[in-house]
Formats: sequence, C-alpha cells, structure tokens
Amino acid sequence: MTKHIGILTSGGDSPGLNAAIRGVGKAALDLKMHVVGFRDGFRGLMENRTTLLESGQLSGILTLGGTILGTSREKPHKMMVGGKVRDMTEVIVANYRSSHLDCLVCLGGGGTQKNALRLKQAGLNVVTLPKTIDNDVAMTDTTFGFDTALGIATEAIDRLHSTAHSHHRIIVVEIMGHRAGWLALGAGIAGGADVILIPEIPYDIKSVANAIHKRKRSGKPFSIVAVAEGAISVEEYQEIQAAPAAIKGKKAEAAEIVYADRTIRVAQQLESLTGLEARVTILGHLQRGGTPSAADRILATRLGTAAAQLIHDGHYGVMVAAHGENTVPVVLEDVAGLVKTVPVDHSWVESARRVGTNFGD
Ligand code: F6P
Repeated sequence: MTKHIGILTSGGDSPGLNAAIRGVGKAALDLKMHVVGFRDGFRGLMENRTTLLESGQLSGILTLGGTILGTSREKPHKMMVGGKVRDMTEVIVANYRSSHLDCLVCLGGGGTQKNALRLKQAGLNVVTLPKTIDNDVAMTDTTFGFDTALGIATEAIDRLHSTAHSHHRIIVVEIMGHRAGWLALGAGIAGGADVILIPEIPYDIKSVANAIHKRKRSGKPFSIVAVAEGAISVEEYQEIQAAPAAIKGKKAEAAEIVYADRTIRVAQQLESLTGLEARVTILGHLQRGGTPSAADRILATRLGTAAAQLIHDGHYGVMVAAHGENTVPVVLEDVAGLVKTVPVDHSWVESARRVGTNFGD
C-alpha cells in the first residue's frame, strides 16, 4: 500500500526549513510514498489547505530561506476561529483522516514538539524534526537554523568592531535566542565579544562596567557587548524568584516583554557608568533570513531523509534527533515541554572566560 504523508512547518521561520522539506519529500517519493504539504502550519491543517509535493515542487528549494509552505504560530488546541479561541483538534483529526494520511511530519521548535505530542495523544501518527535558530530543543545535539544564525550574528559582530574601535565606543548588540543563550554565547565567542550576557547567567551591570573600565585602562577604550534577547539582570532574576509560585511564570513573561527596552537600558547604564559612548544594534530577524549554511543543509537533509525512513518502517510518535553522526528517534514525551538552556559550566562558557570574556557575574 502507498503511504501518504503530510508535511507542515510551524513556529518562526528558519534557514534550513526548505532543505528539510526537500529531504523528507525526496526520500519519501523515492520510497514510493505520496506527499502533500499543509500551508501555514497547523492553521492550514485545520483549514485543509494543501499543496501536492512532487519532484517539481521539491527541486530548487535546498538553498531557499524561509518555508515554501508558509508557517504560523497557531496551536491546534487554541485557535482563533470566528473571533473565539477554540480547540480545533477534532477538526484536525478529521482532516488527517479524510486526507488518508499515514503520518504527519511537523517541522518546528519547542512549541511544535508540544503540539505534535497533543496530536499523537489524539491518535495521529506524527514524526517531527527539530527546527529553530535558538538551538533550545531538548534531546538533540542541535537544531537546523542555528548554524546559519550563528554565522549571521558572528559576521554582524565582526562588522560592529569597526565603529567600536574607530569611535572608542561600547557597541551593545542584541541577539535572538528566546529564553536560551546559545546564539548569543556562540556568536559572542566567535565574534570576540568582550561581554556576553545570557539568560542563564543573570548579569550585574556594575560587573560589566568594571570589565569595560579595565579594558579602557589597558588601552582599549572600546567594547562589544553581546546581549541575548532573553538576558535578565540580577535584580529582575531575584524579583522573579521572590514572586509567589502562582505568578512566577507571569513575572518571567513580563521580564521577557521588555526585551528591546532592556538592551537599550543596558547601553544607557554602561554609558553613564563608564563615560564611553554606547550604541545599540538589534539584529532581529536578520538572523533568520536568507540561504542556509552548508552545515544546516546537511543537518536538514540528514534529519529529513531519516524521518522518511522511519515513516516507511512504521515508526511514529518521535522527533528525529541529531546525536553525533547519527540520527536517533526520540519519543515526543521526552522532548515536549523541555527547553535546552546553556549549562552555566558549559565548555563554551569556560572557554570564553579563559579568554577574558565577562558574563556580568
Ligand atoms: O524562535 C525563533 C525566534 O526567532 C526567537 O529567537 C525570537 O525570540 C522569536 O522567534 C521571534 O518571534 P517572531 O518571529 O514571532 O517575532
């Protein structure tokens, strides 16, 4: 019997999504399967908006940024329909059945893993791939999108050194990563940032200012400060920890809301504490744009083709994880709801400290 699979991309766009669609699709066609794509994530699945994926649609997309299917941040159990938030799981299950699907392939980050688990629990065969520039999906060495974003952020830091040393300035650059510091940590090391602030190590602005003063006294009156968008100060961290358990999550979300304000505030604080001019660059969605790196193309192809083989073998309910040179199926129950953050004693942190990088602590 020919197996029928549906593919969707969900959450923030990311370099490598089209490479992954191509990997799943081409391998599935080679295994004599029928492949359709659903538009715009779980919204398109709920509205049954599909597109046939044959070799023609899968050619020429390896190098494309974004996703040819479109994406959204919609959740099956909380969708805005007719002006009301509704649980549309049953409609999605009905569409899955009426499309005669044998498996749904979901390409996405942490939120997508949770949504896929819910659909597994509703009785669907699902297989997921770990996608995000944040590299914060649990149980996998890495996610496709991360390597490309790392390169973009690193090049940005390289370029920002010019204005820093020409004008004897502090350049504060905000780097994405949501609640994890992997992207800021990696780009900060690769770009030679003097300070790296990540969510996992709450920062004391005075420690940062002292590090910059020390550089100034040693004849380097300029500094690059890489700030993860989710970085928080010691004061904010203590306020969150002191909050009653019932509202701790709300406090943490509130702390997230002031992302951009925080980076600008860090620059203003450092300017007044050090006497050096400070300027802010927020890299934003540049980090998600354009063609994927070679590493992300290879990773997306490895994971995508492995997914097709698992489906062929009837192995469902898993995320295809990268473990060294292998791709390993991990049950969604072990992935969903977890966020892979930077261990404070991670080798990258230790190495950065050994070259004199300040972490605000
Ligand atoms: O998860 C990827 C990511 O780029 C995060 O780093 C960032 O916080 C978020 O998406 C931005 O979301 P949006 O694309 O909805 O602005």
